[in-house]
Amino acid sequence: MTFPARELLKNWDEQQSAYIAYREERYNAALDVLAMSWGKEFHVVDLACGPGSFSKRLLERFPAVNVTAIDLDPLLLALAKEALSEYQDRIQFFSGDIAAAECFSVITGKPQAVVSSTAIHWLLPEQQVALYRNISNLLDEGGLFMNADHQRFDNRHPRQKQIAQRHDEDTQRNAWTAGVQDWDRWFDTATRYPELAELLDARAAIFADRPTPLPTTVEFQLAALRQAGFAETGTVWQFLDDYVVAGWK
Ligand SMILES: C[S@@+](CC[C@H](N)C(=O)[O-])C[C@H]1O[C@@H](n2cnc3c(N)ncnc32)[C@H](O)[C@@H]1O
Repeated sequence: MTFPARELLKNWDEQQSAYIAYREERYNAALDVLAMSWGKEFHVVDLACGPGSFSKRLLERFPAVNVTAIDLDPLLLALAKEALSEYQDRIQFFSGDIAAAECFSVITGKPQAVVSSTAIHWLLPEQQVALYRNISNLLDEGGLFMNADHQRFDNRHPRQKQIAQRHDEDTQRNAWTAGVQDWDRWFDTATRYPELAELLDARAAIFADRPTPLPTTVEFQLAALRQAGFAETGTVWQFLDDYVVAGWK
């Protein structure tokens, strides 16, 4: 291992916080809801875990929790494994496409919760509905799904849309001024390390032909979850167009 995994994860968290103004508060809200729902000991799946941001916070906050972490990006998955190696008996990593039902076949037992952050907007809306159906099938009654992600305002909400855009621009400008790496610079830095650089081509091939999905609204998310079999749905956290959307089976 030649790459400084924890430092790269720390830089990733800073980089992501430039795009998500209250990212830490958003995580804390989701963690509080998990604590209220399941106490201290449960099994949670982190979908599209990236370099391990949500998983790390789950493992730190809940010392008896087990995590299954899934992502499609070999580079970010390698980084997550190394950055969270101290938790190896409590976290299992799998490579998988969350848009495909097979990705759920690796999960053992019945998790009490499924979470995801800043990732599901990478899927087409119809793939999101199918994903929510697969998550619903995975959970027992009462099982919880939470998605922390942007849900954009459409033209029915022009003032909120404009304020959210301006707030995003300000947050990013402040971060870049303070020397935080943007998305491209973070990947440039990470891939200076040979083991990670080797995975860059695989990563590029995997994501090469993916269409860019149109943004979804929070109304779409709530309806999609209900359609997929969640009995109760709601937003457990919001700042402008950033939400934690929840569904209880
Ligand atoms: C912006 S990153 C967020 C990573 C992490 N959850 C976080 O919040 O820091 C988006 C993640 O979604 C993953 N991803 C995108 N599409 C995916 C798919 N179809 N299956 C699995 N992972 C996917 C990417 O590889 C990347 O790790």
